[in-house]
Amino acid sequence: MKNLTIDPERLWDDLMQTAKIGATAKGGICRLTLSELDREVRDWFKAQTAALGCTVTVDDMGTMFARRPGQRTDVPPIGMGSHLDTQPSGGKFDGALGVLAALEALRTLQRAGYETFAPIEVVNWTNEEGSRFSPSMIASGVFAGVFTRDWACARADRGGETFGAALEKIGYRGDERCGAHRLSAFFELHIEQGPYLEAAGQDIGVVTGVQAMRWYEMGLVGQDAHAGTTPMPRRRDALLGAARVVAAVNACAREHPEAVGTVGILEAKPGSPNVVPGEVFLTIDLRDPDAAVIDRMERYIGETTQRIAGELGLEITLKPISAEPAVQFDAGCIAAVRAAAAISGYSSRDIISRAGHDAAYVSRVAPAAMIFVPCRDGISHNEAEYSSKEQCAAGAQVLLQAVLDYDRQLSERYGG
Ligand code: GLV
Ligand code: MN
Ligand code: MN
Repeated sequence: MKNLTIDPERLWDDLMQTAKIGATAKGGICRLTLSELDREVRDWFKAQTAALGCTVTVDDMGTMFARRPGQRTDVPPIGMGSHLDTQPSGGKFDGALGVLAALEALRTLQRAGYETFAPIEVVNWTNEEGSRFSPSMIASGVFAGVFTRDWACARADRGGETFGAALEKIGYRGDERCGAHRLSAFFELHIEQGPYLEAAGQDIGVVTGVQAMRWYEMGLVGQDAHAGTTPMPRRRDALLGAARVVAAVNACAREHPEAVGTVGILEAKPGSPNVVPGEVFLTIDLRDPDAAVIDRMERYIGETTQRIAGELGLEITLKPISAEPAVQFDAGCIAAVRAAAAISGYSSRDIISRAGHDAAYVSRVAPAAMIFVPCRDGISHNEAEYSSKEQCAAGAQVLLQAVLDYDRQLSERYGG
């Protein structure tokens, strides 16, 4: 067993090394999906896994699968991983920890010469963040059949470049059809991104599911007008309408104890100090563990929007972009994580994820579960995001143990 202990220093070195790719002045990372920096970190990942003797395949959504063979070639691999793209003001751990801990787990197996029953794969999902191309988790969504590849590839960033064009440009459109890749199971390690584990003083979160989440895009159209000469009653101010929408989203989320609602992008045109804005684009993100609560919020926002449109003389369109129901992870995978935390000597508690993750979509097509480690003050999507070397190592160790536990379950099932 001693040989199967992950190396905390090596994992930390990888985290710090890759954090230089897109490093920001405030200690975070800006590595938007399908950018040149994303290509750079993908090249690094490919070189590292190839050096371990892995075969790296890339699907036609750019998702990378690095495979270490097992005893059986006819059993689909157990996957573990997360994402290497970041938010514009992202931290060093969101996503990167799950991929690099999986890489470290693979290295540990390699060094020990340990032969697993099933092949083991490290997965780097494309565009988890949804920051440049919405929605989030677009590649795992196509993988699970939630979105079509054509729809995903036509999604454009705010500069008008499409996902498909950006994927071609960085040279990571692979040959394998997205969704064709079978997995026996999938495990994702992630920082919690919230405050609960730290507050409870627990080492590991055994993630039993993910809350429901919906994204929308809204367009508000009024009339560009002279800021000095247009009397207030004659204005059709799209930004004023947007301000009321922002307040409505906030207010309706506060009506429900567990709900959250966010306007994350708001762009007003033409963007001049002396022009009343005639056009606004904004995004809405609504989440709650209970999808029925999101239904209620959606209705409220729809009705309020119509009222605002009438009062201000605006045309307002509300377009749903994605709708992820609440997810319950697989009982066998959850049990493997719980047992792995116990055998590794860590305290743990069950938790649901308030953030979206690729494992949520993957769970539609393969058994899946997640492992959380605490992060300081629950801060994430922020350059100050931080989990300690020991916390990262604990997560990686539990990831490795959970995969080995599941591998043993598979070998029993197949009579291997
Ligand atoms: C993923 O980053 C999310 O928005 O939950
Ligand atoms: Mn993430
Ligand atoms: Mn994120």
